[in-house]
Amino acid sequence: MTKLTIAQLLKETPLQEVEVKGWVRTFRAKRFIALNDGSTLNNIQCVVDFENTDENTLKRITTGAAVHIKGELIESQGKGQSVEIVVSTIEILGDSDPETYPIQPKKHSFEFLRENAHLRTRTNTFSAVMRLRSALSFAVHKYFTDNGFYNMHTPIITGSDAEGAGEMFRVSTLDQKKPPLTEEGEIDQSKNFFGKDTNLTVSGQLEAETYAMSLGKVYTFGPTFRAENSNTTRHLSEFWMIEPEVAFMDLAGNMDLAEDFIKSVLSYVLEHNAEDLAFLDKRLLDEEKTKPQAQRSELSLIEKLKFVTENNFKRVSYTEAIDILRNSKPNKKKKFNYIIEEWGADLQSEHERFLVEKHFKCPVILFDYPANIKAFYMRLNEDGKTVRAMDVLFPGIGEIIGGAQREERLDVLKQKMAVLDISEEELWWYLDLRKYGTAVHSGFGLGFERLVMFATGMSNIRDVIPYPRTPQNAEF
Ligand code: 4AD
Ligand code: MG
Repeated sequence: MTKLTIAQLLKETPLQEVEVKGWVRTFRAKRFIALNDGSTLNNIQCVVDFENTDENTLKRITTGAAVHIKGELIESQGKGQSVEIVVSTIEILGDSDPETYPIQPKKHSFEFLRENAHLRTRTNTFSAVMRLRSALSFAVHKYFTDNGFYNMHTPIITGSDAEGAGEMFRVSTLDQKKPPLTEEGEIDQSKNFFGKDTNLTVSGQLEAETYAMSLGKVYTFGPTFRAENSNTTRHLSEFWMIEPEVAFMDLAGNMDLAEDFIKSVLSYVLEHNAEDLAFLDKRLLDEEKTKPQAQRSELSLIEKLKFVTENNFKRVSYTEAIDILRNSKPNKKKKFNYIIEEWGADLQSEHERFLVEKHFKCPVILFDYPANIKAFYMRLNEDGKTVRAMDVLFPGIGEIIGGAQREERLDVLKQKMAVLDISEEELWWYLDLRKYGTAVHSGFGLGFERLVMFATGMSNIRDVIPYPRTPQNAEF
């Protein structure tokens, strides 16, 4: 007897005696089990001979139960599937209580499923999303490995604030209620586990830079933590970031890399995850139909993915973007929440989305931002007021990538740190890179969940990570 996954059974398996384990999705007419084991979106139909199955077993075949089935794989007698299993024996491995089981065979709201995140991958939508997430993660590692990058694991506990934004979770073993105090009455950090204040990393970039300056091409792909209080559909307090860093590469090279990378990973899932994508494509289409005509997307999910893989990203300087925004209809009619008046304004997601969705109608790479709205490590341009920053903006998502050519000149870097009051002592090792064999280098960070949102058409970031962490929420 051959033990196979349902994915294998549905795909060119010779008709034979088989066995399979999975969870009952539905049981219809005391006869037809739709069985799923997670290996594919599709269920296999298992036909029970109810006259020769005892009543008690039949009662226990309920939605959500785990079962072990043996039987014969035959060409299906009914419509809707090519093969089915004629059950010879069925063993109930784990009962489910049909009265209380939250995942009923009907449409559930995403809010409800978020509250049942431990069971939501038993639905078609979430199993498809999470299989795609897994495939994208693999595609990321494949892309970098194929292109000569080394994967490095940057620390999760750090002593520095890479983004200088101060939005960090503190890591401490000190007694919160009664911390040890110094003679001056300050918290005595020397008694803390690491002998100093530490936090969860907001980015692996600074450490990645050290390895780029010896191994050449590296990337890190790990969890990132931000204690920013933004309760939006695009922010998580814990998310995964992919950060390549490359020596001897300037900003133009960085843009080329970002574009090639995104196209490559999206092409990978278009090729390898067609079934799940087709399902999500249809789901999105149904969702779009509930919206007023004017708000509907012109492209389907798969068309959107192909549009990105087949077209060039538009590269636009911040200065050009400000001109476009200043003269735009929503700006003149005061439809933006933040009206763009002057050069130097920070761009909000409404502006980014206007540029991408209304003006250019394609992914956009904005570059050369004003120095004072970007992080300290970005390379200052000759004009003395802009830095070699780049943000990649995507339709429906806004910023998906943030990156830069790094400031490689010791004196300029020190000046910038002084202005922002960033301690040279803390970042001595980062400064060392500029003392010993400094060189042009660049990199970027891609928010993995934002990529998964784009690839799956899901509109809330909480629905593309297994257990989302957001302000006031760390269930599971
Ligand atoms: O633009 P950010 O803050 O850039 C950095 O952290 C750089 N150190 C990266 C680098 O150059 N190596 O973050 C990078 C990306 C954003 O473009 C966005 O996609 C994602 O990370 N991101 C978030 N995703 C989910 N929730 C949040 N709170 C996020 N903050 C940033
Ligand atoms: Mg950013």
